[in-house]
Amino acid sequence: MNKETAKNRIDFLRQEIDAHNRRYYVENKPNINDKEFDFLMKELEVLEKENPEYFDPNSPTQRVGNDISNEFEQVAHKYPMLSLGNTYSAEELINFDSRIRKTIESNFNYSCELKFDGASISLHYKNGKLQRAVTRGDGVKGDDVTQNVMTIKSIPLSISGENIPAEFEIRGEIFMPHKVFEDLNQQRIEMGEQAFANPRNSASGSLKILNSSEVAKRKLDCFLYYLLGEKLPSFSHSENLLIAKSWGFKVSEHIKIAKNIEEVIEYINFWDKERHNLEYDIDGIVIKIDSIKQQDELGFTAKTPRWAISYKFKAEQAETILESITYQVGRTGAVTPVANLQPVLLAGTTVKRASLHNQDQIKLLDVRIGDFVYVEKGGEIIPKIVGVNTNKRTENSKEIEFISTCPECNTPLEKHDDEAAHYCPNENNCPPQLKGKIEHFISRNALNINAGEATIKALFDAGFIKNISDLYKLTFEQIISLEGFKEKSATNLLTSISNSRQIPFENVLFGLGIRHVGLTSAKKLAKQLKNIKAIQNAKLDELTQLEDIGEIVANSIVRYFSDEKNIQIIENLKNAGLQLERIENENFKNKLNEKKIVISGTFSISREEIKKLIESNNGKLISSISNKTDLFLCGENVGPAKLEKAKKLNIATIYEADFMKLIE
Ligand code: IVH
Repeated sequence: MNKETAKNRIDFLRQEIDAHNRRYYVENKPNINDKEFDFLMKELEVLEKENPEYFDPNSPTQRVGNDISNEFEQVAHKYPMLSLGNTYSAEELINFDSRIRKTIESNFNYSCELKFDGASISLHYKNGKLQRAVTRGDGVKGDDVTQNVMTIKSIPLSISGENIPAEFEIRGEIFMPHKVFEDLNQQRIEMGEQAFANPRNSASGSLKILNSSEVAKRKLDCFLYYLLGEKLPSFSHSENLLIAKSWGFKVSEHIKIAKNIEEVIEYINFWDKERHNLEYDIDGIVIKIDSIKQQDELGFTAKTPRWAISYKFKAEQAETILESITYQVGRTGAVTPVANLQPVLLAGTTVKRASLHNQDQIKLLDVRIGDFVYVEKGGEIIPKIVGVNTNKRTENSKEIEFISTCPECNTPLEKHDDEAAHYCPNENNCPPQLKGKIEHFISRNALNINAGEATIKALFDAGFIKNISDLYKLTFEQIISLEGFKEKSATNLLTSISNSRQIPFENVLFGLGIRHVGLTSAKKLAKQLKNIKAIQNAKLDELTQLEDIGEIVANSIVRYFSDEKNIQIIENLKNAGLQLERIENENFKNKLNEKKIVISGTFSISREEIKKLIESNNGKLISSISNKTDLFLCGENVGPAKLEKAKKLNIATIYEADFMKLIE
């Protein structure tokens, strides 16, 4: 194929794939099947590889993300991202309406919209191409998350249509649909990772993952609700959104124009019930004056627009009976009381359990067995008890007496004055604590061993593992004897355990599960004290003198190492060949002295290797060019837009060969 034919075919495929993406992710009307789609994509990938000079950062092939760990650059918003005033009742809405009528004498309409519950995002387009995506941040400046946002299929990388301004911003909400959220949490629980509390946390957490190929797996989605710019196609906000829809943006189909506040209230009442049938979360309704001229007339206060307000739905409540309380013991020995309820329907699901947090909470609510209690779902997985209907209380009900011994091992519980929780101190023998410690040890940020909670339980119940170091004594015969294990899965588990011997010391230290030693503290300790022996031998005052190590962490470390059992476990881990010493990167040089570097194009070595080179020379890889960038490193076929921008901002540009010389 000659160059011209290749270029034409690439252009055609890009347009075709963009259109299919739009039909599938925005309009819900696909007209080809997955196989046919993959076929087009494959063809484009091959052609782009064969013709690297036609590289385009906005090509649909760029949506898969990459595994370069990006630090997010902070970018100032052109128009500040303000929040909205909240209302909770019809009365407050009527007041809002009266305030507006004082300024605006002519007729006006309200645009009523769903208030999506996710993470807000500002997208910047220039000449029909997505240039940049920035989070709300503090409203004045946010994080540049362009690479991550590019993986969201309903966000167009290129748009086409009529009246597209040369430059504009469009704002919206990135969210995670219920189904995706449930699947993700299921997976996380199986992997022994902490489940996300709700789809909102999950969406905003996903947006901040440093590795965009991981973000791509999260299947985020995005509704756009606000078009901004100097030359917009219409003076009506809702019309602008409809026009933006025709360019390829995902705009909600539930926007409604209301002629007065009564119609707004009707819309709110409708959605208060109907919201439970949506496939995503909304937490209220947004009401905006539709005419942009009238919006301008009303203007802004310091924090919010005067032309828009939100109405927040009340958290749904249900009344049911508290049947009993069970006490759960976690990895650290903390005891959590959980209420067992008579099953009741709440916001579309049947609720059987609710969290009671701790003894103080039980006292505060004065909740008793047999009480009629109010449960509320505030977007968390496990609902909470928010009150008691004392009118229905039976005369002989008694105050709940918090347990005094561990429900799992019978050891007397302890409570420290400065903490709300009760603890079981039997950390070396209490089964859920032992299992919990092993689950923590194998988790992703620790030893990253590929096993779920169920496997740990089975190994533990069979008596094969009692503590973390026993994992390294497991045999093939033991694993295969467990239900559900076959030759391949048993080998995989053993390989994963074996591979964990390469895990760096800081992660091993985190994996030990010393109370209050999170990953950050583990990294700080490893960096300063270098090895486990030094940490073990350090006195309390030596520890508190370390950078970023406070008294609580220091005390906890001393306590951990004063236990002979822990010393023995560490000895076993050492014999098993784990990394108990920090490996200083011998190649680490300071040639780049924390320079912020953006790379573009193809290099003679892989991007992963380039990244390693930058990091081992104390440079920082960032994702997009701004005036904070120190160096622009170009490979072959560097993106012309980036090159131009680097020139414009006067950023030093360097090619691969010179870069190699620089770091030698
Ligand atoms: S308009 C100046 N419309 O609610 C007005 N916001 O507290 C800008 N939100 O941070 C916001 N759905 O993240 C608007 N249909 C909608 C919305 C919406 C959700 C979020 C947005 C904003 C927050 C306001």
